[in-house]
Amino acid sequence: MGFLGLRELLVVVWCILLILLCCSIEISFGSTTRHFKWAVEYMFWSPDCQESVVMGINGQFPGPTIRAQAGDTIFVQLTNKLHTEGVVIHWHGIRQRGTPWADGTASISQCAINPGETFDYRFKVDKAGTYIYHGHFGMQRSAGLYGSLIVEVGEGEKEPFHYDGEFNLLLSDWWHQSVHDQEVGLSSKPFRWIGEPQTLLINGRGQFNCSLAAHFSNTSTNACTLRGDEQCAPQVLPVLPNRTYRLRIASITTLASLNLAVGNHKMVMVEADGNYVQPFEVEDMDIYSGESYSVLLTTNQDQSKNYWISIGVRGRKTQTPQALTLLNYSPTSQSKLPILPPPITPTWNDYDHSKSFSNKIFALMGSPKPPKNSDRQIILLNTQNYIDGYIKWAINNISLLLPSTPYLGSIKYSLKSAFDNKNPPENFANDYDVMKPPINPNSSNGNGVYMLGLNITVDVILQNANALAVNVSEIHPWHLHGHNFWVLGYGEGKFSANKDEKKFNLRNPPLRNTVVIFPFGWTALRFVADNPGVWAFHCHIEPHLHMGMGVVFAQGVEHVNDIPDQALACGLTGKRFMKNTKQN
Ligand code: C2O
Ligand code: CU
Repeated sequence: MGFLGLRELLVVVWCILLILLCCSIEISFGSTTRHFKWAVEYMFWSPDCQESVVMGINGQFPGPTIRAQAGDTIFVQLTNKLHTEGVVIHWHGIRQRGTPWADGTASISQCAINPGETFDYRFKVDKAGTYIYHGHFGMQRSAGLYGSLIVEVGEGEKEPFHYDGEFNLLLSDWWHQSVHDQEVGLSSKPFRWIGEPQTLLINGRGQFNCSLAAHFSNTSTNACTLRGDEQCAPQVLPVLPNRTYRLRIASITTLASLNLAVGNHKMVMVEADGNYVQPFEVEDMDIYSGESYSVLLTTNQDQSKNYWISIGVRGRKTQTPQALTLLNYSPTSQSKLPILPPPITPTWNDYDHSKSFSNKIFALMGSPKPPKNSDRQIILLNTQNYIDGYIKWAINNISLLLPSTPYLGSIKYSLKSAFDNKNPPENFANDYDVMKPPINPNSSNGNGVYMLGLNITVDVILQNANALAVNVSEIHPWHLHGHNFWVLGYGEGKFSANKDEKKFNLRNPPLRNTVVIFPFGWTALRFVADNPGVWAFHCHIEPHLHMGMGVVFAQGVEHVNDIPDQALACGLTGKRFMKNTKQN
């Protein structure tokens, strides 16, 4: 099997030429603006060797990787070339300080971009790190609308670790059923679940019904006969012996929680969600949807061999096979298959393994510390409920159903009828048993907003519970827009203020933008509401968000000025309406 040929080299050269053409770089007074013109459209593609319709950008899947330096301005002119639906793109992990309208959340920060229209995303990337971007309207992320956003340290700055080269691994999961069908199933009575993914993808490439490692298994899996230039052929990582490589690993899965391991190699964790962590060594790592990590890997193994990089599913019992690619020590010769079998993913329900990994992550010494006390504590109970016979996820018994007018404009211009003005509940009934299936008939759809005072310190306690089925509680990775938060701790069962607050880690908690709650457990986090705007906080599992698993935080919206008309061109903030209200 030869992956690296002249053909590939030509493709690379073409890509570089295309990138140079598509992205013009303006440099003015020391700060750089990186300008991109992107068109989103459906196209035929074979992510896992089987042809599907995917949502691509400029004819690519995954979308083009953006590389920038801390302090740069990114300017993406996004044209919607889908014929019948709106679109937005969210820049996951970028805080959008001063540009909350560029956060790319439909119904929250902006109106969805109509077919044929163009929206200008102009924002600063102020912090080095590994980030992602993705669709944030309906389930467009699951349709394949995603890519990598990598921010290098600013001019004259240094990373607190050394490496000789780097690779980018964007992890996702893929279904053969169309996202449209999936959405209809999730919103139907009776409910139809999307099931488990057919294939896991690494940089948009996976192999369905065809195993790279078939020669290791005694099952009847077909061996892959790939030439190497297929859309589904794995991207091999060419390395030199005795060097240190930075692997930037980000997960944009729809559903799957993943574990990644590299045969025979240990990894040293150095970055999480764009924040440095106290380095620690691991044999394998868990990664949940919405998270990103950088690990350092030293090529100190037998250089006459190659090694597997493997990802597999955690936290759900699936048949979805591992995805594999190769760490190739001999870039000059043809890649050969490893002699050792791929690393085995830990058992799906070995949660102790996952918890012990999460509990090893601490902020790098010298990182900013959380305020000692919080001004407000919000407890969010996560349950699965029936609402009018539909299955939904609810937070304190409210399932998020987004309004037609984006919050940013409606709060800024006090359009009170645009959403429910009552503050949503900050806690749940004291006698609620988190270990029992929810029987609460009072849950409802809602779109209220937690109004946070500007600059207050907020504690959020995410409380997991039993789902509708007996003895089932699921993993939920929660992602906060516009901020990083400190992860103060994880615990089992029901959170107890008296007992558990004393155990909060205020010394070196890691800063993150995504954090997991384990089955039947709780997770505590703290953030400072210092970024005027309206920000989503939600489970990053796409069908869960679609089923209402999220809340909305607003802060200091009166300080947000110059919201572009483009972001207001719908619902009650539609331009004509705005003009009328200004005149009256
Ligand atoms: Cu990456 Cu609101 O999500
Ligand atoms: Cu979830």
